Amino acid sequence: MKSDVPENPETGLQLPVHVAVIMDGNGRWAKKRMLNRVKGHEKGADAVRMIVRASREIGIRYLTLFAFSTENWQRPKAEIKALMTLLKRFLTSEKQEMIDNNIRINIIGQMERLPSDVAAQLKETMAETAANDAMQLNLALSYGGRAEIAMACAAIARKVKDGAVDIASITPELVAQHLYTADIPDPELLIRTSGEYRISNFLLWQAAYTELFITPTLWPDFTREEFVAILSEYNKRERRFGRADD
Ligand code: FPP
Repeated sequence: MKSDVPENPETGLQLPVHVAVIMDGNGRWAKKRMLNRVKGHEKGADAVRMIVRASREIGIRYLTLFAFSTENWQRPKAEIKALMTLLKRFLTSEKQEMIDNNIRINIIGQMERLPSDVAAQLKETMAETAANDAMQLNLALSYGGRAEIAMACAAIARKVKDGAVDIASITPELVAQHLYTADIPDPELLIRTSGEYRISNFLLWQAAYTELFITPTLWPDFTREEFVAILSEYNKRERRFGRADD
């Protein structure tokens, strides 16, 4: 059941429309080298540049990267500060490339919890890339799947209270329309690096039927070649969405 997904003319691969990635293992990458964890995040930011570029070139339409979770606020202040600085640096260094390559940047998550300078820069980058339509890069920042679903429930409850929504019309489609990903198709493919078999509160609603690929590679070591190999592997999986084989 992959006939509805586009094909890459160069590789002949049936591509997923939406790829999501849990970029895990920066800390372990640094520890293995007796380096500070921040060095791992710095190297991880290079892998972010790689996957954004590769996805655009290959023809992925939506790429969603888990860059900072709601749980990550519990990390040491210095590490949070370093991650925010890396994010700002990424936005500054990549903005022109996003514009040149027709990539739109979008944020999913609690923007209001981010430091004001980071939020301001994100808003500016989103506005400057809003009309781009070749690929959408979703950065999940202060994102948590449970918090997202709770937010959607609260928004729907308010509408019920105001008389704008009837309880009988609360369907999965209505819930989906109140998530951060309202206008984004569900990911067909979710990659997690560093070998942990967990979803870690990422895209809980949206990943109901997503194909999961776990690789032992630590995120800073993740390469374009491995990404292409996973896309090829995805081609071999049969997606049945709970239906019987025909
Ligand atoms: C997980 O590694 C990674 C993160 C918590 C943050 C991801 C951030 C980046 C890849 C770099 C900056 C992002 C952008 C968008 C420029 P971990 O620290 O949990 O690793 P560990 O499990 O080995 O400790």
